[in-house]
Amino acid sequence: MGRFEDKVVLVTGAGSGIGKGSALRIAAEGGSLFCVDLDAGTLAATVAEIAEAGGTATAHACDVSDEAQVIACVEACIEHYGSLYALINMAGILRFDDAREIELAQWRRVLDINLTGTMLLCREALPHLVKTGGSIVNAASTAALSGLPCGAAYCASKGGVLAMTRSIAVDFAKQGVRANCVCPGDINSGMTEGIDWPDTMDFELMPRIMSLSGPKGPEAIAGVIAMLASEDAIHITGEDVRVDGGTLS
Ligand SMILES: NC(=O)c1ccc[n+]([C@@H]2O[C@H](COP(=O)([O-])OP(=O)(O)OC[C@H]3O[C@@H](n4cnc5c(N)ncnc54)[C@H](O)[C@@H]3O)[C@@H](O)[C@H]2O)c1
Repeated sequence: MGRFEDKVVLVTGAGSGIGKGSALRIAAEGGSLFCVDLDAGTLAATVAEIAEAGGTATAHACDVSDEAQVIACVEACIEHYGSLYALINMAGILRFDDAREIELAQWRRVLDINLTGTMLLCREALPHLVKTGGSIVNAASTAALSGLPCGAAYCASKGGVLAMTRSIAVDFAKQGVRANCVCPGDINSGMTEGIDWPDTMDFELMPRIMSLSGPKGPEAIAGVIAMLASEDAIHITGEDVRVDGGTLS
């Protein structure tokens, strides 16, 4: 398969989990990867893994919630490769809080990274995507579609990503740019390890988060993300694709 031959793909959150899995998958399909993450160490490992497999990738450390860093990041991608065909926004954080106790700084951090960070990457990438007739795939979540226990901040951020993505899809459809979301659920990753639950968490509500068929690895969603970013999804925009093993079925 060479769906991404001669195409440049920027992936955020590429140091871990779904972002890393997507970068590996798209590189294996011929894409030239611009891998972005806050964590330079894990990012270097992703790029090395792609290179070992014969792919093309470069690393760029960036905090997606920092406007100046995001502007510099997209500029660096264009300077390095000359164009951009797809933007895959997977950087994100998860936390659970009792809605009576959530601290404003924590609320803002979740919104800043998950929602504002995604917006900043879209904003900076769109002029380049218009030139290539490219596309965006954003990480929403089952949390954008239904309530998670102790998930007020995270659900708000992911609901925002979904609504924003639909709006971008409408704005840019005539210019040939598509924008879609994936809504993952119960994918094993850095995010799902060692979760800090509030004392008041009601664990009887856990089935709202868990897949019916058990958790899966990032490879279970990487192919869906690659499909949405590719020409195979040429008539799909403003869509959200649940990849949750039936959690919300
Ligand atoms: N794993 C799941 O079941 C699941 C479910 C629903 C949604 N998601 C979403 O999928 C996306 C990928 O999550 P994952 O499960 O692979 O998690 P992960 O923790 O394995 O990966 C997230 C990556 O984002 C990076 N990151 C965090 N803050 C950043 C910042 N400010 N700037 C740049 N990079 C930053 C982290 O360093 C990490 O490498 C996230 O947006 C997450 O909310 C995941």
